Amino acid sequence: MATREENELFTRVGPGTPAGEMLRRYWWPVGVSDQVQTKGAPVAIRLLGEDLVLFRNGQEQLGVVALHCSHRGTSLEYGRVEDDGIRCPYHGWLYANNGQCLDQPAEPEDSSYKERIRHPAYQARDLGGLIWAYLGPDPAPELPQYDLLLRTDGARLVGGGGTPGHFNWFQNVENTVDQAHLPFLHASGYPEFAMKRPKIEWERTWYGVRAETWVADVSGSKVSHFIFPAHNRVTGARVGRTPAHNMFFRVPVDDTHSTGFFVNFFPGVDASTLTEEDLRPIKRRSEPHEYQRVDDGWWGIASRDQDRMAVETQGPIVIAPSSTWHRPTGQSSCCARW
Ligand code: FES
Ligand SMILES: [Fe+2]
Repeated sequence: MATREENELFTRVGPGTPAGEMLRRYWWPVGVSDQVQTKGAPVAIRLLGEDLVLFRNGQEQLGVVALHCSHRGTSLEYGRVEDDGIRCPYHGWLYANNGQCLDQPAEPEDSSYKERIRHPAYQARDLGGLIWAYLGPDPAPELPQYDLLLRTDGARLVGGGGTPGHFNWFQNVENTVDQAHLPFLHASGYPEFAMKRPKIEWERTWYGVRAETWVADVSGSKVSHFIFPAHNRVTGARVGRTPAHNMFFRVPVDDTHSTGFFVNFFPGVDASTLTEEDLRPIKRRSEPHEYQRVDDGWWGIASRDQDRMAVETQGPIVIAPSSTWHRPTGQSSCCARW
């Protein structure tokens, strides 16, 4: 568990903070591609503590710019998307995707004022059915070329976003590396692991952490890959038909809220044959502190909400009692090996 000081450092994600500057060196999923249509309704988003609006102009180019107009701050969520940008509904200022103000219809015709207005704007791109945004300095890195975003030999489902959970991004990431909860929190999903003492090995890798979990009397193991700073890929996932390959992308909304996106890939499956059960993950909507109840003989929380319940009910930022928070120092089945 992170100390109070580490939490202070890791959970502050706004501009100019150490964690915020580090996280701005990565692309983040911020939407689903087919939900942002050409000249369709702009979509308000929040990423790394910044309020933004996402749109696709008439030339099918994605734009992500500051939500509040550079003139008087009216929300561009209610703006009009045009061929070459987004127009504010209040006095009609038009911004190009790169933030350059192109038109100020209430100013005198010969005014050059618009040339001096550069609205905050960032890069956004489509990849694998998701929209990715980059808020950091130029040059932007390559988009993450994960196989599940690029493969064409099967059906791909993407989804996520929606109402953010009330917990910081780092708490969410800690949960992805915390394999000790699998036999307990996920007892209903992994009955062969249920309530058995796990043996876990974590290995630091070039991409992050590889974790493998065994329990007594069960052949085989569960492997989870954590990819720095906030992605993970799992084996043995149980989403609709199997086998599906899954990735999850945790996204820092602000200091105390997180959201996430996912990709489920079904090798060799024609997308038109996907069933309601397969599509279930992309249709769900979750509100903070609302967890679907089920009668499963365990905790009574639907598998889809188990992790969120565990992370969210800790509080928006888990505060360790003191900077001398106990850390295990010896080897045990639940201790990292480094
Ligand atoms: S507030 Fe946007 S144009 Fe005036
Ligand atoms: Fe979990």
